[in-house]
Amino acid sequence: MPKFSRRSFIGAGLAVSGLGLTAACGRSGASGPSGALVKPTDPIVDAVEKERPASGKERAFTLRAAETELDLGGRTVRTWSYGDALPGRELRLTAGDTIKATLENRLPDPTSVHWHGLAMRNDMDGVPSVTQAPVKPGEDFTYRFIVDTPGTHWFHPHVGTQIDRGLYAPIIVEDPDEPLAYDEEWVVMLDDWLDGVDGATPDDVLDEVRGGMDHGGHGMGHGDEGPMRMGAMLMGASSDLLGGDAGDVYYPVHLVDGRPGADPRTFSAKPGARVRIRLVNAGGDTAYRVALGGHRMTVTHTDGYPVEHREVDAVLLGMGERYDVLVTLEDGVFPLVALAEGKDMTGRAVVRTGSGEAPKEDVRPDELDGEVVHATELAADPQVRLERRSPETEHEIELTGSMAAYDWALNGRRFDREDPTRGAFKVEQGQRVRLVFKNSTKMWHPMHLHGHTFQVGKDGPRKDTLIVLPGRSVEVEFDADNPGRWLVHCHNIYHGEVGMMGLVAYTA
Ligand code: C2O
Ligand code: CU
Repeated sequence: MPKFSRRSFIGAGLAVSGLGLTAACGRSGASGPSGALVKPTDPIVDAVEKERPASGKERAFTLRAAETELDLGGRTVRTWSYGDALPGRELRLTAGDTIKATLENRLPDPTSVHWHGLAMRNDMDGVPSVTQAPVKPGEDFTYRFIVDTPGTHWFHPHVGTQIDRGLYAPIIVEDPDEPLAYDEEWVVMLDDWLDGVDGATPDDVLDEVRGGMDHGGHGMGHGDEGPMRMGAMLMGASSDLLGGDAGDVYYPVHLVDGRPGADPRTFSAKPGARVRIRLVNAGGDTAYRVALGGHRMTVTHTDGYPVEHREVDAVLLGMGERYDVLVTLEDGVFPLVALAEGKDMTGRAVVRTGSGEAPKEDVRPDELDGEVVHATELAADPQVRLERRSPETEHEIELTGSMAAYDWALNGRRFDREDPTRGAFKVEQGQRVRLVFKNSTKMWHPMHLHGHTFQVGKDGPRKDTLIVLPGRSVEVEFDADNPGRWLVHCHNIYHGEVGMMGLVAYTA
């Protein structure tokens, strides 16, 4: 992918210094260089945008965020979504195109759109209190930026718990020189659902979990009983793959492409067809283990970036993660199953290439218990591997907090929306940066960085969202080539919302 994949052009030539910035944010961070921080509106953000390889083509879309009613297999729920659909309509572009997406906020609350996985100009990142003002009810906001890297991505609001309603959709950026050959392509979004079921909302859940999970005597242990529901919470959800505690929130339904297991989507194809499946976990508090009954699959990408191909039985996706897999279809009818990891529930779709009865709703194909690959065991495709270089800046980001206190944070500090740059992890344009995620909690966290795609370890996959298991440390590296202020946070929406977020900020 020589044309659009790398952004090494942002080198010394653009290391613009002395742009006449006033020191708006002179507070000192945890470590690293001192000085004023680049603002999303600074000229360097524009300068970098002008250097991105562009086709000159502009693609316009409208995203209408509004309250709506959805039918989840016979159960009608009131929720919020884009364009009255679940997931929202897929946006599809080619690398180099300029996206022009107008958000029409017809919700009762302020909102925004964050483009998860895209490394775009900082002022279009969609994070209120960091990169833009919230878009008020009744108002519109147009996002316009060059999309320079191919891949499977998605978008969602970055306000409160809105992501745990129905506000999400895929954005697929095609490679003008696509190296893979396939006959069909399916985008499959996975989601844990509670909004509108028995009157519940994600805000109620947040209130409840915020109260803490210190309900002494209630089996936090992982006995034979399996996970146990207590109000909005789930006790004893446990997974070996996730290193223990799997999640805190009880979801009554698990959706595959917006559909419950009772009313699944059917994908039809010819036997022998080669299919590219783009999997996205849009959940709030659930990792999914995904398998296609009767098939092995070849992992080709994660988080939009190619990896050395690897054949597996199942993949595990934390919230925010994406996997692209290739499958050659057998003849028959097969379940595509998303197991809610540790929660003992499933969502499913059906793959049909021949006649036969659809598999049962609660079917669990053997492949789920076969070989499951962890992201840390994958290797980046050589084309996107970062060249070896020693980092100029290193930040340790300790994941802290507990379920009992529900005080999730980074380095013991809860994110402060009033003063978001406090404790920022500072970097300089042009630097190689190493982040060390050190998980000191008893739970796994899917850590996400905005505006960049880091490399895991020395030769691991390029990713923007990474499962960090309890008690483990993982090193990731990226090149600081996209100036601005970028969130780094846990993509468990409830963890993030109570404070497990921070900023990677460029010094001016
Ligand atoms: Cu899906 Cu802060 O992102
Ligand atoms: Cu977390």
